[in-house]
Amino acid sequence: MDAAYKRVNGSSSPEEEQEPQGTPGTGKRRGSYLEEETNKKSEVISCIFSLKEEVGALAKTLRLFEEKGINLTHIESRPSQRNIEEYEFFISVDPSCSQALDEVIDGLRTQISGHVHELSRNKEKDTVPWFPKDIQDLDRFANQILSYGSELDADHPGFTDPVYRARRKEFADIAYNYRHGQIIPRVEYTEDEKATWGTVFMELKTLYPTHACREHNRVFPLLEKYCGYRPDNIPQLEDVSRFLSEKTGFQLRPVAGLLSARDFLASLAFRVFQCTQYIRHSSSPMHSPEPDCCHELLGHVPMLADKEFAQFSQEIGLASLGASDEDIEKLSTLYWFTVEFGLCKQNGEVKAYGAGLLSSYGELVYALSNKPEYKAFDPEETAVQPYQDQTYQPVYFVSDSFEDAKMKLRKYSASIKRPFAVCYDPFTCSVEVLDQPSKIQNALSRMREDLKTLHGALEKLSAS
Ligand SMILES: [Fe+2]
Repeated sequence: MDAAYKRVNGSSSPEEEQEPQGTPGTGKRRGSYLEEETNKKSEVISCIFSLKEEVGALAKTLRLFEEKGINLTHIESRPSQRNIEEYEFFISVDPSCSQALDEVIDGLRTQISGHVHELSRNKEKDTVPWFPKDIQDLDRFANQILSYGSELDADHPGFTDPVYRARRKEFADIAYNYRHGQIIPRVEYTEDEKATWGTVFMELKTLYPTHACREHNRVFPLLEKYCGYRPDNIPQLEDVSRFLSEKTGFQLRPVAGLLSARDFLASLAFRVFQCTQYIRHSSSPMHSPEPDCCHELLGHVPMLADKEFAQFSQEIGLASLGASDEDIEKLSTLYWFTVEFGLCKQNGEVKAYGAGLLSSYGELVYALSNKPEYKAFDPEETAVQPYQDQTYQPVYFVSDSFEDAKMKLRKYSASIKRPFAVCYDPFTCSVEVLDQPSKIQNALSRMREDLKTLHGALEKLSAS
């Protein structure tokens, strides 16, 4: 079971512009643009965007650049290899236009339908990668996915099924058009899809009492009661998101395909979980080569409803903001061995809390057998452990508790080299970058107020 992001670091670097897997020539680089090759090391800012093939679309786009006073130093076009109805444009601009380009890119995303990929944004000078500061910034990721809907690998169970591929495109379109604050569209699942869910649901439910951690078992009955978790019903993301929001402030948003690790982790910083809505192919109910709604709803959701675990997940996200590619790789490996495949000790027994385990009957049984190797969770060691995304993990990391894992992770995060710290403001759903004394002072003042409240509460308790 894979996580809901692709294990690559940056979003949309030229190296990631690969041919969609499963199409003829799989594995080879897509043809590069001339300027992309020659300017890889230079300081120009480059960007690829695609437009629907319709009269006036390019002129409309170029007007956006003109309005912002951006002079294009290079432009190339070609038919899109992603969508035959689209054309791709590769453009380069002078680095002095960086800020204006941001505004144009936002304009492209909101006014023009199509994909937008940013490339080589002055990386030599700008050592801190861009990261979202506000929850609405996550809308940018909606069209920065690495694969889209019907693009399946050749070995995917649904690869040769045109009906399944068309269905996947429907789900991808929902996510592609979703924006923060909207209600997640409800889906009428087919009888075939519900039967697949029912099989997975019933099989896993028999294992949870003995194999899942107590936090998962505590929440599961609530999901059955309030969110329509039943063998004959696939829960709706909107209902589940509301439930989570009430429990821990986490919310779901539909994701159209695989995100980069950087983008996926950044969402967690805002207590947003990028969630697939489609279901695995009916020919393979007990295995999915990628995350699907069975994985998310049965594995992730119950854990995200636990306060301690929610905090742990958010802290991984906050640690990722502005981190280097190397640190993103380590954090995503940490995520892999905890949120996806983590084990913990409870009452002297080892139990599963990782979503990859809680949504896979076979690996859940295997992980709690005497076959795999166990290691104590230690972020330094876990972050560099080779992982396995094609078969069962050879090693699992066991935490004493979520509290213990959180404390260790916090210590590890502090060692990540960033010229600032970040603080999440739950009132505005935004991240404050603590890079100036005045900002730190303000954060301290808020903390003092909170401490006063706690002190007052303690006094009242001791007086009674
Ligand atoms: Fe996952």
